[in-house]
Amino acid sequence: MKGVYKFHKSFFMKIRIVTVSIFSIIFFSSMGIKNQVSVGHANQDTLQASRNKYINEIKEKIKGKEKMRVDSVFENLKVLGGFPAENLLLAMNSWSRALGVSCNHCHETSNWALDSNPKKDIARQMSEMTTKINSEYLVNIKGLSSERHIVNCTSCHNGKLKPALKIID
Ligand code: HEC
Ligand code: HEC
Repeated sequence: MKGVYKFHKSFFMKIRIVTVSIFSIIFFSSMGIKNQVSVGHANQDTLQASRNKYINEIKEKIKGKEKMRVDSVFENLKVLGGFPAENLLLAMNSWSRALGVSCNHCHETSNWALDSNPKKDIARQMSEMTTKINSEYLVNIKGLSSERHIVNCTSCHNGKLKPALKIID
């Protein structure tokens, strides 16, 4: 029995390796044409290009201060803190990706510290809500299978401004 199992295991391993390499060939060969064939991806690329432009502008401005505490480099932080300045840009990119937007959805991009756009304050409250769900509710649910159970912006938004608002569409 043991021998049969061993045979199966190595057989399936081989199939897996072949499948993985076929997928990587398809994946890499489609990369060159992805802008022409997929509108959805092209839109994602445009959004990322827009975000990268802003991120690079800010990186330039904070040059030399990347490792300093975030609140000593940026002016108007009310909910985020306790990490190096450069990580703020990673967080901002993640929030944007989670919602499927560029930075200007929440910001006046000529002055990042301004609170003139109400979406920015909504995002602050969303961030606090997320922390609360994790630290007050999820940690107290017994018997969950994974060791690290958390929600983040993507858990609800999944690339869209409006999460699914009905259980059944
Ligand atoms: C969903 C809304 C949202 C999006 C999208 C967003 N931000 Fe933010 N951003 C915020 C909020 C909220 C704060 C303030 C956080 C706080 O109060 O601790 C902030 C703070 C900042 C700050 C600090 C400004 C200061 O001096 O106080 C910078 C810089 C910044 N964001 C850049 C970006 C960039 C670059 C992008 C795009 C890659 C981006 N943000 C996308 C909501 C957003
Ligand atoms: C538990 C689910 C949940 C989580 C987690 C969550 N959101 Fe939301 N968010 C919602 C719902 C529901 C709405 C309301 C959608 C609507 O307008 O009908 C919303 C709306 C928003 C809006 C306003 C949308 C708009 O039209 O501009 C912003 C901005 C936002 N969320 C940012 C965030 C950010 C940033 C995070 C992570 C820090 C986050 N959300 C995490 C459920 C969630």
